[in-house]
This record gives sequence, structure tokens and C-alpha cells, in this order.
Amino acid sequence: MSFITWEDTMSVNVKEIDDQHKKLISLINELHEWIQAGEKKDILGGVLEELINYTRYHFSVEERRMKQFSYVGYLEHKREHDDFTGQVLLLKEKYDKGTTALSSEVSSFLKDWLTNHILGTDKKYTPFFNSKGII
Ligand SMILES: [Fe+2]
Ligand SMILES: [Fe+2]
Repeated sequence: MSFITWEDTMSVNVKEIDDQHKKLISLINELHEWIQAGEKKDILGGVLEELINYTRYHFSVEERRMKQFSYVGYLEHKREHDDFTGQVLLLKEKYDKGTTALSSEVSSFLKDWLTNHILGTDKKYTPFFNSKGII
């Protein structure tokens, strides 16, 4: 069984965004599996970097959509994205310097953040986006 399993309750009812969330889940699952396998530094570092890059891309898509239609929750939502981006960039920096390890605590943090953010924050924009014809 996967570390994180996509469930229909996670859907934000926007196909493009659901697909991106599924991709993020699969990258966190991949990172978790490499961590469990005790994989070497270059592989873990590479997967972490891919996860960070894809996360930033995904955030930029959501933010562009929110701004485009003047979504009222934009700033608050963006702050959550920025906080998380800051945390993972710091983690990557420490990992690259060798001052922190990638452990199952890290994958649990990523899992909890993503699932809470999708269920608690992303899903709030569903009625708004759908009302603008974004589905
Ligand atoms: Fe999202
Ligand atoms: Fe978001």
C-alpha cells in the first residue's frame, strides 16, 4: 500500500489541479520509498529537488488562477504556499550541506502538509473556480 493514497474526497473538482495533486502525491510516495530503502544521497537529493520544482510549478498554477479571477482568499492561500516553499527549501539546503538527514519524519511532514492543505485550503476554492467555469 502506498504511503499516501489518492481518495475522491481530495478532489477539488478541477481536473488539471487534481492531476497535479496526484503527481505531488506520487513524488512524495517515491521519496518516502527511497528513504525507507536507505537510498544514497544523490538519488534522494534528486527526488527532493524534483518534488520542490513540481510543487513550485503547481503553486504558481493555482496562484495564477486565483489572481486571474480575483479570488478573495488569494493572499491567505499564497501565504501558506510561501511558508511551505520556505520550509522545503531550507530542508534541501540543510540536506545538501549534510546537516540534516531525510527521514520518515520528513516524509510524514510532507504528507501531512499536503493532505491538510488540499482538504483544508485548496478545496475552499472549488465553488469559486467552478462558478468561473474552471472544472
Ligand atoms: Fe494545491
Ligand atoms: Fe494550494
